[in-house]
Amino acid sequence: MKLKAIAIASALALAGSAWAATVRDEPIEPIQAAKVTNPAMVELGKKLFFDPRLSRSGFISCNSCHNLSMGGSDNLKTSIGDKWQQGPINSPTVLNSSLAVAQFWDGRAADLKEQAGGPIANPGEMAFTHDLAVGTLRSIPGYVAEFKSVFGSAAINIDKVTQAIAAFEETLVTPNSPFDAWLKGDDKALTDRELAGYGLFKESGCVACHNGPAMGGTSFQKMGLFEPYKTNNPAEGRSAVTGNDADRMNFKVPTLRNVELTYPYFHDGEAATLEEAVDVMGRLQLGRKYSEAEIADIVAFLKALTGDQPTFVMPLLPPSSNDTPKPNPWE
Ligand code: HEC
Ligand code: HEC
Repeated sequence: MKLKAIAIASALALAGSAWAATVRDEPIEPIQAAKVTNPAMVELGKKLFFDPRLSRSGFISCNSCHNLSMGGSDNLKTSIGDKWQQGPINSPTVLNSSLAVAQFWDGRAADLKEQAGGPIANPGEMAFTHDLAVGTLRSIPGYVAEFKSVFGSAAINIDKVTQAIAAFEETLVTPNSPFDAWLKGDDKALTDRELAGYGLFKESGCVACHNGPAMGGTSFQKMGLFEPYKTNNPAEGRSAVTGNDADRMNFKVPTLRNVELTYPYFHDGEAATLEEAVDVMGRLQLGRKYSEAEIADIVAFLKALTGDQPTFVMPLLPPSSNDTPKPNPWE
């Protein structure tokens, strides 16, 4: 028994060092596959992520605006909330969001757990209250049983709800993009054009802000360094959190992972295409006007950042009981 354990440990250590040796020395690291430590909690979180009964209308779930069939976003300029309200800001993807220093464009939530409480009670999103959402879950026998088996007690509260949702979101990472394969040493994983795009991305300075495994999410940066960014969207970014005028128009640098899937771009959703977004980034963030050919190269590279999308069996949600509060979509 003991010998076997040692053999396994040294095999693991060997595999680890062999792997480390092949990863290229680049400013961007490959995305790691998710390590699931509590599959039952992830499963519960998945159900909650897909459950529209956490909204007042009974119609809007997390997946409505972070559609996991569409790169974890809604592909709208700004989201549609309760009673068809026009949302104030573009919905960022939930894919790889566990890798970010903070959540939201302005970073006002420290982590996924804190974030998950926001939309349920946001009058412009799911428009419920935490008490009503928890009350709804308590009225559903299937959930009571599942919370009991996951948490060891049938008591349901918002803390457990957000903990389970966050555990599910932590699994929404997207490893194995062509770029990751290249980072891990596969010379053939990128085309010449994609490699040329990566060269431009590095040399011209995109990587100063879009770095780390998520190629973003590591810092807050001013939108509009060389020229001011013109927008009708009133969002001011980080200054809304810090109260510091110097943070005006500083936004969390968005991840570029799966960016091909998460159009339209920027916090106001005003850039419809990747070509447009790259052109704006070049001019406003780097003071550089790229040629059409350069933009095409960078865009080709950005499309090589699409990794394995999360796939799973659609969660089956436990049915409501006679006591479950009725959905209220119209009043
Ligand atoms: C009505 C649309 C809508 C619904 C429903 C919604 N979200 Fe969001 N979500 C957004 C928008 C818009 C933002 C960006 C808000 C901001 O930054 O001010 C966001 C931000 C986030 C972020 C931060 C991502 C990042 O990169 O900063 C996460 C994580 C997230 N939502 C998860 C959830 C979860 C979990 C639920 C369900 C409990 C949910 N969302 C429900 C629209 C929605
Ligand atoms: C000084 C920091 C900085 C540099 C340099 C920079 N970016 Fe950005 N990038 C940002 C910020 C901040 C945003 C979000 C801006 C907003 O939403 O208003 C962003 C947004 C983007 C987006 C849109 C992503 C989305 O989901 O909305 C793309 C694509 C992008 N950058 C690509 C690039 C490329 C390509 C380069 C190099 C040409 C580059 N960036 C250089 C900070 C930077």
